[in-house]
Amino acid sequence: MTLLVTGGAGFIGANFVHYWRARHPEDAIIVLDALTYAGNRASLAGVDVDFVQGDIRQTALVEQLLRNRGVETLVHFAAESHVDRSIHGPAAFVDTNVLGTLSLLTAARSVWLAGDGTPHRFHHVSTDEVYGSLGPTDPAFSETTAYAPNSPYSASKAASDHLVRAWHHTYGLQVTTSNCSNNYGPYQFPEKLIPLFLINALHGRPLPIYGDGMQIRDWLHVEDHCRGIEAVLQRGRVGETYCIGGGAELLNIAVIDTLCAAVDAAFAADPALAARFPGAPAARGTPTASLKTTVTDRPGHDRRYAIDEAKARAELGYAPARDFATGFAATLAWYLANEGWWRAVLDGSYRDWVETNYAARG
Ligand code: NAD
Ligand code: DAU
Repeated sequence: MTLLVTGGAGFIGANFVHYWRARHPEDAIIVLDALTYAGNRASLAGVDVDFVQGDIRQTALVEQLLRNRGVETLVHFAAESHVDRSIHGPAAFVDTNVLGTLSLLTAARSVWLAGDGTPHRFHHVSTDEVYGSLGPTDPAFSETTAYAPNSPYSASKAASDHLVRAWHHTYGLQVTTSNCSNNYGPYQFPEKLIPLFLINALHGRPLPIYGDGMQIRDWLHVEDHCRGIEAVLQRGRVGETYCIGGGAELLNIAVIDTLCAAVDAAFAADPALAARFPGAPAARGTPTASLKTTVTDRPGHDRRYAIDEAKARAELGYAPARDFATGFAATLAWYLANEGWWRAVLDGSYRDWVETNYAARG
């Protein structure tokens, strides 16, 4: 099989490429990625893939890749993915997430549905954020929950989901969609909660907690997510959507306290860390939790996400393999062992953005 993976140099896309390469060595993998601030060629170092730097909005390029390379399966990760950025600059989210998905669908239709048609699959990776925000006692999101996106990011993802659905119903494109919860793990860009707070903790920088920190997310280790996508590709029914969760609903403050305690324990167990990260409070025996700082809440901040993955369990045999404690410990170990990776991605433009953003929040 030949796969085209869009956004394969981003966090989840790169993990998916590593995952697929290890389990399906006979398959050819083409990565199409524009290498925005969030894309890193280094995340694919040493993996046997054909890397094409390009934009999903280049419909002719996508058509050429699908046609000339005999692609049968397209796995679509490419997106603008950070909610805070969507609040500051929503247009880029419509451009990439809506128009970019439209471009891929246009190319897939013209190549795969021409003549007698070609066996194919278009898998679209989406988010639980399209369902909006839950109250404390509301049932978890499922595939039948009504869409109610609240941020420019989730609105753009919702629009892309609807386009994918329409291309199946109208044109017969063989699509599947997965809506997953908050991923964490290796290669995550340090703008998202867990890698941002880990790296700030190592440098003695504030840990900016939005609002009261009582928001709830369902944390999904990225390898479990990759296993879920593999299950959808292998056993999912065409035209269907599947919710993929981690079974780990946690308050943000609980995640942050786990992170602070884990950093303290790592420094206590390994004296070399104090020499590597002298700015960390833990290097002086001061609790990492001393860095916790409350800042102005994210506008429109969704309160709670939760996933009911009964359909994926029943139809695909999917179940997350890692609980949060295990997954988080592995993630901390990865960031400590891969300092070169995160130092390389923290370039000047990103640092400027973080400093401006957090300065504005006070
Ligand atoms: P990411 O921001 O880490 O990576 C996005 C990748 O897409 C980058 O490599 C970037 O260079 C590439 N890209 C952006 N615009 C492009 C364009 N126009 N053409 C080609 N490539 C482009 O994102 P992620 O966290 O890996 O998320 C991947 C997908 O999963 C997204 O669709 C996102 O909405 C979805 N998702 C993410 C999470 C999460 O917790 N991270 C949860 C649910 C769903
Ligand atoms: O639910 C799936 C979504 O998860 C994906 O669709 C998005 O692409 C992904 O970015 C993620 O969105 P969140 O907004 O939930 O993730 P983020 O890591 O930005 O924030 C997680 C929670 O932590 C959220 O409640 C906001 C809070 N937070 C985040 C940051 C970056 C803070 O309190 N402080 C911070 O500095």
